[in-house]
Parts: sequence; structure tokens; C-alpha cells
Amino acid sequence: MEKIAFFDAKPYDKEWFDKINKKYEIVYYESRLRPESARLAEGCTAVCAFVNDVINAKTIDTLVGLGVKVLLMRCAGFNNIALAAAKDRIKILRVPAYSPYAVAEHAMGMILALNRKIPRAYIRTRDFNFSLVGLTGFDLHGKTAGIIGTGKIGQAFMEICKGFGMNILAYDPHPADIEGAKYVDTDELFRESDIISLHCPFTRETRYIIDDNAIGLMKKSALIVNTSRGQLIDSEALLSALNEKRIGGAALDVYEEESGLFFEDNSDKIVTDEVLSLLVSRPNVLITSHQAFLTEEALRGIAEVTLQNFDDYLCGKELKNEVVSK
Ligand code: NAI
Repeated sequence: MEKIAFFDAKPYDKEWFDKINKKYEIVYYESRLRPESARLAEGCTAVCAFVNDVINAKTIDTLVGLGVKVLLMRCAGFNNIALAAAKDRIKILRVPAYSPYAVAEHAMGMILALNRKIPRAYIRTRDFNFSLVGLTGFDLHGKTAGIIGTGKIGQAFMEICKGFGMNILAYDPHPADIEGAKYVDTDELFRESDIISLHCPFTRETRYIIDDNAIGLMKKSALIVNTSRGQLIDSEALLSALNEKRIGGAALDVYEEESGLFFEDNSDKIVTDEVLSLLVSRPNVLITSHQAFLTEEALRGIAEVTLQNFDDYLCGKELKNEVVSK
């Protein structure tokens, strides 16, 4: 039986992979995949990895040396892989889409929670503090949503915004033909939007797409929501803008330095990331721990496609979900 070394395994991963898997021996490791842990894949044909695993040249050298043939990414993004080191040495397969609704719905959930101060209200009422002072939000109806990246998740988010009666501005270097959306350049999008939602991948071009200049163009009341990748936002610039009240608030499901912190319980530790600590403490910042994907439908989809990718590799079928390094 072919073996898969499964890194960064969480109980919800194990539950869904065990439900779907009928053919392989899966060895689950809590450790993230990184150069120091890669040796755990000895005897395995495949490794299964996730967004914050450190898949650099050293990790890949070790995996290749152990005879691992396939890297099964159980996610869409692959910005954490040294593609040049992997080229022609190890196959990389991913899950390009599972549930775009999971992420889009979480993004809107965060906007509603941030705008209407629902987490603050929840904490107050648990202490029988029924004061409304400081909880004023704004109607989404009639306001403008600026959507950066109009692929699967961006379009799902757009449909939700339309349901709220919002106007839609969009930016994407590859515009789609979408009714009710007006494509504009980023400057106009930043200037005109009341909420700005990021749905593009992290690439050289999109790194810090939200920087001090971009924030300088935005309305002082604008809310930014990032459910894509932390590196899209210059966190220090965001923190300064929040401190100087140049921006309305931020809802962050991802953070540029999340690796090693997110997905884990750090409540007994001293977290030394000062930018994160200050962001967490701001009343107009809402942070979730890269959980936008976490629905039953998405977990099922991830397990099904990941295992199908391995089937396809072993059967010599066309690898439609292969990440090809250029
Ligand atoms: P997709 O590939 O369907 O869409 C991405 C869109 O971004 C494409 O339309 C592409 O043209 C556009 N794009 C590329 N470069 C751009 C640029 N410079 N500026 C603006 N747009 C640009 O991808 P999908 O499925 O919609 O996912 C989007 C992102 O969501 C992923 O890259 C990933 O980072 C993130 N994600 C986050 C999850 C979470 O749990 N927080 C879960 C899944 C994905």
C-alpha cells in the first residue's frame, strides 16, 4: 500500500481524510513540513502539505533524497514552495478550488462583525453590559465594495455584496465578463470603495498591494478585509494608518508573519510579534486565524481532490492540478 506522510495534521484534517481515504496508508504528523522534519517522510511515495509549511530547496532536497515522488498540497496557494528546486524532481499537485463560498462567506462575515461591532457587543452582553455606546456601524446597502481579484472567490464575494445592495468596483489584470461589476484601476478602487476585499494570489506583483500609498487614497471610513494572503498588506503601514485614524478598520484572516503562530494555540506563550500584538489590541481590527476555508464542504472537497490527485499520478493519468514551475 502506498504511503502518504501528512504534515501539519489537525483533527479536522484527519477526520475528513480518514472518511474519504480507502486506498492509502496515511501517516499523520502534527509537525509542519520543514527542512528539519522532512525526514519523517522516509518510506512514503507522497507527502501532503499545507499553506504555512516551509517547502524550501532544503526540504525538497531531503524529500527527493528519500525517494518521495509527489508533493500533494491540500490547498490552492503554492507561494511557500521553492518551485525552481522542485522542477523535474518532484511532482507538485494542488487543490485549485474547493469551496469559494467558504472563503467569500467568511469575508462577508468578518465585514459584518467588524462594521456592526458584533464581537464587542458579544463580550459586553456576557457581562450584562447592554450599552450601545461605541457600537455604531454603517449600512452596506448603497455603499461600494472594491474587489481585488475576480476569480472564483472574488466572484462569489461579489454576488454576496450584490445581495446586500452594494455597488461593485473591481480590479483584476484579467477581467471577467461580470454583470453589475465595473472594472477600474486600483487608484480609483481605493478612492471610491467603502469596503475593500482582497481575493488575488500572493505574487511578486501583489506583494503589499495595500501599502501606505494605497491607504492614503482610501476613505477614512474604509474597511479592509483580507482573506487571501498576509503578504498582500504592509502590516506596519496598516497599523500606522489605524493609529492615525486614516482608515476605518481591518478584518484579517491572514497575516504576513502568520507562519508558526496561526493554526496553533499560543495562549500560554509570550507572542513577541509586536505588530500583531498591537493589531489584536485595536478595537477596529478583527483577526481570525486563516479559517476562511474551514467549512465541512471545503474540507470534504480538499480531501477528495488531494486523494484524486494522488490516484491520477499513480495511474499515469493527465495531471490537471499540477503546479508547473516555469
Ligand atoms: P482564482 O485563481 O480563481 O482567482 C484569482 C484572481 O486573482 C484571478 O482572477 C487573477 O487574474 C487575479 N489576479 C492575479 N494577479 C492579480 C493582481 N496583480 N491584481 C489583482 N488580481 C490579480 O483564485 P481563488 O480561488 O479565487 O483564490 C484567491 C486567493 O484566495 C488564493 O490565491 C488564496 O491566496 C486565497 N485563499 C485563502 C483561503 C483562506 O482560508 N483564507 C482559502 C483559499 C484561498
